[in-house]
Amino acid sequence: MKTILITGASTGIGHAAALRFHAEGWNVAATMRKPESAGDLAGLERVVVLPLDVTDRANIAQAVQSTLTAFGGIDVLLNNAGYGLVGPLEAVQAAQLERQYATNVFGPIYTTQACLPHFRARKAGLVINVSSIGGRLALPFNSIYHGTKFAIEGLSESLALELAPHGIQVKLIEPGGVRTDFGGRSLDFMQQAGLSAYDASLKAAMSTFMEPDRAKDYSDASQIAEVIYQAATDGSAQLRYLAGKDAQAMLAHRASLTDEEYRDWVVAKFHL
Ligand SMILES: NC(=O)c1ccc[n+]([C@@H]2O[C@H](COP(=O)([O-])OP(=O)(O)OC[C@H]3O[C@@H](n4cnc5c(N)ncnc54)[C@H](OP(=O)(O)O)[C@@H]3O)[C@@H](O)[C@H]2O)c1
Repeated sequence: MKTILITGASTGIGHAAALRFHAEGWNVAATMRKPESAGDLAGLERVVVLPLDVTDRANIAQAVQSTLTAFGGIDVLLNNAGYGLVGPLEAVQAAQLERQYATNVFGPIYTTQACLPHFRARKAGLVINVSSIGGRLALPFNSIYHGTKFAIEGLSESLALELAPHGIQVKLIEPGGVRTDFGGRSLDFMQQAGLSAYDASLKAAMSTFMEPDRAKDYSDASQIAEVIYQAATDGSAQLRYLAGKDAQAMLAHRASLTDEEYRDWVVAKFHL
């Protein structure tokens, strides 16, 4: 029986992935900051709910050890925990910046590092990092978030090369828009009292982000969980998995343009 350890399994993609793998007979270590938020995962056979804040290294070591104790091994690590930070970079507070990188970049690095001795000993293992279409292309007023997802893309691509000789794979999931708590309670905003220089362009860009048509091709978390399940089980050496109709369309559009043509398209589209 196979085992997956998932970070950020309380809601959204992580929660949907926990249910998907469980339904296929996997053991699931569903980790989350607040285990009391486990909801329908609590009490399921072959699911252990474990406390894990990915910004806490001692906590990571403990969660990995508890998973090994509960199930005897880990086959797949799903680095899913993450959130968005939006607004003008000039307004970012140090604590916000550090929390964003600690969660979206250092968290996956430290969690991967904690699993690697086990994966190397077995000469097998798969690390799946939840990136974003925002790790392949950029939109305005998301600079720090894009920075974290571009970082995940680069480090995953390099890590895949150094782990392959040890029988360990790395894969990337790149969702477009997903109907989760991402754009609601999880979202953080960069704001600075007295800084109004960006108000007009931010308002203009937000009007494009909020267009009802933009959300029509968003995915449900269960659709992204399906892509994750395929990535974990297709036996291929594929590195990147675009997830969602909108992600496919956005990347195809981006790939058809030069950097400058794409920039001009964004400027027009977001009224900058
Ligand atoms: N939704 C989208 O449009 C979208 C698009 C592309 C990529 N993504 C990526 O998908 C991943 C999951 O997001 P989602 O859409 O499922 O949003 P979500 O419903 O807000 O879920 C985010 C999860 O991350 C957890 N989390 C945040 N900080 C954490 C920390 N320090 N330690 C452990 N867990 C932490 C949250 O836990 P709490 O319940 O404790 O807050 C929650 O379980 C993220 O990496 C995100 O960047 C999302």
